[in-house]
Amino acid sequence: MWRAALVALAPLHERYACESYRAGWEDAALPTDHVPQLQTVGARLSSLTSFQYQPVSGLVTPRLFMERLDDRFFLSTQYMRHHSMPLYTPEPDVIHELVGHAPLLATRAHADLNRLFGRVTKVCDDEAVLRLIRLYWYGLEFGLAREGGGLRAVGAGLLSSFGELGRFEAAAKLEPFDVDVIARTPFDPTSYQSTLFVADSEDALLSALRSALESALESAAKPAAPALEPAAKPLTK
Ligand SMILES: [Fe+2]
Repeated sequence: MWRAALVALAPLHERYACESYRAGWEDAALPTDHVPQLQTVGARLSSLTSFQYQPVSGLVTPRLFMERLDDRFFLSTQYMRHHSMPLYTPEPDVIHELVGHAPLLATRAHADLNRLFGRVTKVCDDEAVLRLIRLYWYGLEFGLAREGGGLRAVGAGLLSSFGELGRFEAAAKLEPFDVDVIARTPFDPTSYQSTLFVADSEDALLSALRSALESALESAAKPAAPALEPAAKPLTK
């Protein structure tokens, strides 16, 4: 399955992978003929951006996943999708965790942004975390950017799904990358994304996310507004 996925993804990466992914691919040095140990890939990332993979036995809560990013630990599942359904996996498998994320985590820009997601998550309440999860989803998992006259995938979800990478241009509704809209847009992880957000460049996408995270950090640091005085009792007869 690993070999087949990498063979199928190679031409799609050629056409659609963003600049960071292409740069990080060499550095991540993923083998094409076998599934590497998370520890081996983690050791490599660790020397580049201090990120490491930490295996988990199943899905964890989005909050826990994000909080660990602040400590530069990328929580990773260890299972492989079933070969009868090779195109897409609704739950992240090792192809997604490694082929999707490792090349990006090998780059300083993506590693720092992942870390910032973790830092902000730690100080946000659940409602704010929900907005952060949507930013992560539509940005670092499924974000698109214009580059070299075409569309490029910035997100690890797209970059690890040869089913979705081969069809999104024709099948998904493409909207401008607007963090306020994204923070209000729910997503369905169980199927291909019907809406994707496109930034003018990869840099623009990353800086829009960075600004949104910095604002969330500032709001979380502000003391809560004092409770309003109770409304005056209306005059009655
Ligand atoms: Fe992911």
